[in-house]
Amino acid sequence: MNGIEMINTRRSIRTFSPQPIPQSVLDDMIAAAQNAPSCQNKQCWRFIVITNPGAIGRLATHAGFIGTVNFFIKQAPMVVVACADPARSCVLNGQDYYLADTAMAFQQMMLAAWSHGVGSCWLGAFNEKSLRKEFGIPQNIRVVGMSPFGYPARKSSLYAKAVKAVAKGGARLSKEKIVCYESWSL
Ligand SMILES: Cc1cc2nc3c(=O)[nH]c(=O)nc-3n(C[C@H](O)[C@H](O)[C@H](O)COP(=O)(O)O)c2cc1C
Repeated sequence: MNGIEMINTRRSIRTFSPQPIPQSVLDDMIAAAQNAPSCQNKQCWRFIVITNPGAIGRLATHAGFIGTVNFFIKQAPMVVVACADPARSCVLNGQDYYLADTAMAFQQMMLAAWSHGVGSCWLGAFNEKSLRKEFGIPQNIRVVGMSPFGYPARKSSLYAKAVKAVAKGGARLSKEKIVCYESWSL
């Protein structure tokens, strides 16, 4: 798989095999995050890697709507919580860049995982307050997102199929709808 294929075949995975993720894959994922761009190279991102099944089970209860929507992460052999220290990023044009910085690093982590056949799924639905309590995350640190990581199971669960159907089956907007040239014409 070349780089472009790797980027374009990444899809959210919501059904995992229990096979653990080798340390070498995790090392590549972390290196990919370290190498992401960031505002003034401040690298505000911080990550919690969780592999303890009990902790992942507890984490699942803090993900999604009253712990139900994203409960599928319970089967994953690893979950990463992507955090940021906003004080270590920039505010430019009234925009807080800690979100962009951390999103880029986390996406690089997900792509590095996928290059080894390890799937992920960015989760935005979680309870930051209870995650803080459960994992000792200080008040000055924000939880930006989290993702399960694992080898995709051979068959997608009904839940995974239903979520995908709700998300327009993964269909993408056409080039014409998202790109214009030389001046705004969308
Ligand atoms: C900011 C953000 C929040 C998301 N939150 C959730 C979530 O809470 N649960 C979930 O199952 N998927 C979540 N997703 C995954 C999207 O549904 C998914 O990326 C989108 O449907 C496109 O599908 P693909 O990732 O397979 O290409 C989130 C993605 C992003 C970028």
